Amino acid sequence: MTHSSLLANTPDRRRLAVSDPDILNALTGEEARQRAGLELIPSENYAFPEVLTLLGSVFTNKYAEGYPGRRYYGGQDYTDAIETLARNRAKALFRAEHANVQPLSGSPMNQAVYLGLLNPGDTILAMDLSHGGHLTHGAPVSHMGRLFNFVRYKTDPTNGAIDFAALAQVARETRPKMIVCGYSSYPRDYDYADFKRVADEVGALTMADVSHIGGLIAADVMRNPLDAGFDVMTTTTHKSLRGPRGGLILCKEQHAKAIDASVFPGLQGGPHMNQVAAAATTFRLAALPAFRAYALNVLGNAKALAGALTARQVRLVTGGTDNHLLVINTVQSFGIDGAKAQAALDRVGLTTNKQIIPDDPLPPMRPSGIRIGTPAATARGFGLTEMDEVAAIITETLIADGDAATEANLLTRTEALTSRFPVPGL
Ligand SMILES: Cc1ncc(COP(=O)(O)O)c(C=O)c1O
Repeated sequence: MTHSSLLANTPDRRRLAVSDPDILNALTGEEARQRAGLELIPSENYAFPEVLTLLGSVFTNKYAEGYPGRRYYGGQDYTDAIETLARNRAKALFRAEHANVQPLSGSPMNQAVYLGLLNPGDTILAMDLSHGGHLTHGAPVSHMGRLFNFVRYKTDPTNGAIDFAALAQVARETRPKMIVCGYSSYPRDYDYADFKRVADEVGALTMADVSHIGGLIAADVMRNPLDAGFDVMTTTTHKSLRGPRGGLILCKEQHAKAIDASVFPGLQGGPHMNQVAAAATTFRLAALPAFRAYALNVLGNAKALAGALTARQVRLVTGGTDNHLLVINTVQSFGIDGAKAQAALDRVGLTTNKQIIPDDPLPPMRPSGIRIGTPAATARGFGLTEMDEVAAIITETLIADGDAATEANLLTRTEALTSRFPVPGL
């Protein structure tokens, strides 16, 4: 199928139509998908239009191994300028002593921290994967899980909150070199001082991987772990921050040398300077009042969506949300696993992802829940009224049990919503 009605008549696109129509067709197909559907995966967002411009810029042509003023190649006037701007803006935005803007994405960002500040075999205390941790927090299938000795803390089954008493006990027993917090599917906020207290007691470094909520921290609508004295904070730049795909490491000055050497030459080669340019612009845009208003709406929409689902008898892990995401227990709520729920929602134009829940009895490819977030819908302009309709469409879809006529009707309702809110940058 071609999407010729969407082919913008620009020289770039006309050239691509001749040189590679297959790829142009996929590009316009993806654009149509993003326009018509509703993106509810909490880690996804629409990059600022300026970000798309800079990612496709001539900065992609340039090698810049090293750091500003200390590079292995010539011709660095402008790459030095953008990296210096990116570092200074990131430090100001997050109240950090030092920033490294070169990690190619979130996973190498976390790897660079472990490898820069610890030795292979060291013990790291991090959240259990099924309770909300990320693969890079030591999943056995990840290389980090093989290189370091990860020990675990979990959430309290009675209320879903982090179990700090158990965490402190594991820390005293295992004496970790580092305590990691920050999650992929934990819908609650927490006090970073609680981690810091335990870390200080056992002599551990503190690292917060705020990849999901980096934008909400930048906007000062959620707590900043650096304010609690954390050693390191990492965040991806492409989720709630609306920047390019990439990673950002912020740390105390005392760790700056080790972190920089770990990113380059320790782990990576040449930084992607088109990504660094786009990150620099992102940090500027995220400091504006409009971004704070956006971040508040992300939180307000998530609360509204959680409330509207709960009112329809849907069971949420931890009973609600303090951030941008919520996890629906689809087995308890609808008697279907998360894979089936995700597929049904795909058919009505809502993109979500299947999600393991704490101590999930089901396997990861067929887990007990789905994860839903509001950053992308909010970037489109969705507000509280739309959240109620989204909750209605989700609930009716998952009750419909695959009934084709009902799903066709629900798809029309999704498209009625999305047609009113253009995708930023498209
Ligand atoms: C908490 C957390 N850390 C790290 C990452 C890894 O980021 P990337 O996919 O860019 O490697 C993710 C990605 O979802 C994440 O949620």
